Amino acid sequence: MDKFVIRGGNPLLGTIRVSGAKNAALPAMAAALLTEEPVILENIPQVQDIETTRKLLAAMGAEVELGYGRAHHRTTICCRHLASPQASYELVKTMRASTLVLGPLIARCGKARVSLPGGCAIGARPIDLHINGLEKLGATITQEHGYIEASAERLRGAEIVFDKITVTGTEDLLMAATLAEGETIMQNCAREPEVADLADLLNKMGAQIEGAGSSTIRVRGVTSLHGAKHRIIPDRIEAGTFIIAGALTGGDVNIVGCEPGHLDAIVGKLTEMGVKIAHNGDAVRVAGYGDLTASDMVTEEYPGFPTDMQAQYMVLATQAEGSSIVTENIFENRFMHALEMVRMGANIKIEGRRAIVRGKTTLSAAAVLASDLRASASLVIAALVADGETIIDRVYHIDRGYEHIEEKLRAVGAQIRRIGEMLPKRVAAPLVRA
Ligand code: UD1
Repeated sequence: MDKFVIRGGNPLLGTIRVSGAKNAALPAMAAALLTEEPVILENIPQVQDIETTRKLLAAMGAEVELGYGRAHHRTTICCRHLASPQASYELVKTMRASTLVLGPLIARCGKARVSLPGGCAIGARPIDLHINGLEKLGATITQEHGYIEASAERLRGAEIVFDKITVTGTEDLLMAATLAEGETIMQNCAREPEVADLADLLNKMGAQIEGAGSSTIRVRGVTSLHGAKHRIIPDRIEAGTFIIAGALTGGDVNIVGCEPGHLDAIVGKLTEMGVKIAHNGDAVRVAGYGDLTASDMVTEEYPGFPTDMQAQYMVLATQAEGSSIVTENIFENRFMHALEMVRMGANIKIEGRRAIVRGKTTLSAAAVLASDLRASASLVIAALVADGETIIDRVYHIDRGYEHIEEKLRAVGAQIRRIGEMLPKRVAAPLVRA
C-alpha cells in the first residue's frame, strides 16, 4: 500500500489548477446508460473512482474510452449494447456512488441488479431514499443475497418528497424520471452544483428538466434520449482543500480553473477566521494569514458549509486562537481524522456529533492512517504545517478523489513524496488519445 512522506514547513507558492469535479463526473458517466448514442464528457478527473465507474460500465457491455492530458481529460461512453444491466459487489463495495446506475438501468432496460453498498467508513449511509423514490416511479424492488433486483415495464411520473436531502438520491431519481411516462415533481431535492450539472447534461441529451439546483425539480418524461457533449464543472472540494493548504502554510497560491460562486460558504467561513482570499475570474488567490480566530462551524447541505470540507476545516481550527466547535450534521461517525490529528499534537475532544477544537497548537509529525477520502486530505494539510516528517498510510483513499495531489503540491513547493508499490501512482488509462 502506498504512503505519503511529507516534510512540513514549506510555504506553498505558485499556481495550482483545479480538476473536474469527481462528484459531478460520476453521475454524468451513469447518465450515459440512458441512451444508445455516444456521450462525450470533458474535464473528467484522473482518479480511481472514475476508473471504477469505467469498469462498472464496461462490465455491462458499454464501450468506454478514457483519455487524459492533451485528450482534455475526455471520456466517450457508448451504451448501445447493454449485455447485462448489473453492478457487482466487487465494484460497488469500493465505491458507494455505484448505486447511481440503478435509476438509469431501470429506466433504460426495465430491469437492474445492483449490489447493496454495505458499510462505509463514514457511517451507515443507507440507500432507502433511492429505493422508495424508484418504487414511487413504479419500479418493483426486492432485495436478495445482498443485491437489489428491480424491474418496471416503463416508469411512470410521480410526486416524490425526499424525507431527507440526498445528493446521489436526487441524481439517481432525476435520471430515472427523464424516461418515465408523464411528469415527475421532486421536492426537498439536493441543491448541490453537481445536481445542476447533471441536469444540464441530461437536458443536452434531450431531457426536459426544470428547477435543478433548487429544492423542487420538475421532469417531463420523454421516450428516448440522444448523445451529447458536456464539460464537467470544477471540483469545489479540491479547490477548498488547496485554499486551506495555501493559507496554513503561510504561502501565496493562485488556484485556477475554479467556479468561485460554488465556494461561497467555504470562502465566507475562512475569511471570517482571518484567511486572506481574493478572486479574479476563475482564479482564487490565498495569501497566508495573520492571526486566525477560532470559529464554530456546522456542516450543512449546499449552499451551507460542505461535510466534504469538515476534516480540512478542522486542521485550520487547530491553528486558530481559542475554541472552535465543529458540528457534523450530515454523517454520523465522520471524525476519524480527529484521532489522527490528536496524535500529531492537536487538542480535539469529540462529543457525539460535535468536535471541540482548542487552538492554537503546534502540530508535530507522526505516522498516521488515512481512513477515508477527505480525512486523507486533511492529514496531508496537517503534515504540510507540522514540524518534521509525517508518514500517511493508506493513501489509496486520496487517490479515489484527488487527481495527482502530490504532483500538484510539489509543483508549488511542498515536500511530499509517495512510497510504496507503485511509483508514481497513476490511474491506468485504458485508451489514451492525444
Ligand atoms: C454525496 C457525495 C459525498 C458527500 C455527500 C454529502 C457523491 C458521489 N458523493 O454522497 O461526497 O459527502 O453527498 O454532501 O456525490 N441518506 C439516507 N438514505 C438514503 C440516502 C442518504 O438516510 O437513501 C442519508 C445519509 O446517510 C446521510 C445523508 O442522507 O446522512 C446525506 O447523504 P447523501 O447526500 O445521500 O450522500 P451521498 O449522495 O452518498
